[in-house]
Amino acid sequence: MRRILITGSNRGIGLALVRHYVQTDALILATCRRPGAADELQQLAAQHADRVKVLQLDVIDAQSIVGCVDEVRQHTDGLDMLVNNAGILPGGVDDRDANISHLGDLEADAMLQVFRVNSISPVLVTQAFVPLLRNGTDARVINVSSDAGSITMRSNGCDYSYPASKAALNMMTRCLAGDLRADGIRVISVHPGFIKTDMGGVNATLTLDQAIPSLVQTIDGITLGDTGQFFNWDGKKVDW
Ligand SMILES: NC(=O)c1ccc[n+]([C@@H]2O[C@H](COP(=O)([O-])OP(=O)(O)OC[C@H]3O[C@@H](n4cnc5c(N)ncnc54)[C@H](OP(=O)(O)O)[C@@H]3O)[C@@H](O)[C@H]2O)c1
Repeated sequence: MRRILITGSNRGIGLALVRHYVQTDALILATCRRPGAADELQQLAAQHADRVKVLQLDVIDAQSIVGCVDEVRQHTDGLDMLVNNAGILPGGVDDRDANISHLGDLEADAMLQVFRVNSISPVLVTQAFVPLLRNGTDARVINVSSDAGSITMRSNGCDYSYPASKAALNMMTRCLAGDLRADGIRVISVHPGFIKTDMGGVNATLTLDQAIPSLVQTIDGITLGDTGQFFNWDGKKVDW
């Protein structure tokens, strides 16, 4: 039975990944900040009580990470896939003004918060789960990045924190890939597609139903030879 941990699994892409993998025989460690408020996820867990475990994890809270590792160990001694999906874009794509992201409005604490969630927490969560990943089969770490973080693709206009946080995440992917290669643990960044979620907004180009099948094919298909690379949801490479 494949063992999969997903962060931010109460809505959006994270919840859609749970919905997908629940159709397989996987054990899903579905983590979120507020399990008590995660109604859709809790319903899914109630229907599949043996295979969907809802666990508390606030990815920027060190104690929460420690507690989550302890809880996961009560269910399994290994992890085959860790999906670092939790991320923030304050205001979402449709309300960039709320991002406090324009030159002239930039403010350190708001920017740091984006980096803490999007760039730093995936590394710290991965670090905490390395012992379990070492016990995994074809273990992999999937860092959900964004093509917004592609420096090559950026021409003009920038909302600073979010794209820069994903560019930083991509470098974290490379660092982790180098350190974990000897353990056979694959680490990639993936752009999930521009998807209609709370973050992607109503004008996004893809629905979850359109994007998720290709996205899971891509993340399930990676080999050790792919470690450290940046993939698009459809399996193509994204320019750094
Ligand atoms: N949608 C797109 O078009 C798109 C495009 C490129 C990349 N992405 C990336 O895909 C990932 C998922 O995006 P989405 O569209 O599904 O966004 P979303 O609908 O806004 O969901 C974000 C998820 O992240 C969780 N989260 C935020 N901060 C957290 C924290 N400190 N600890 C734990 N969970 C936290 C949220 O939990 P709460 O409910 O508790 O806030 C929520 O479950 C993100 O990394 C995003 O950057 C999305």
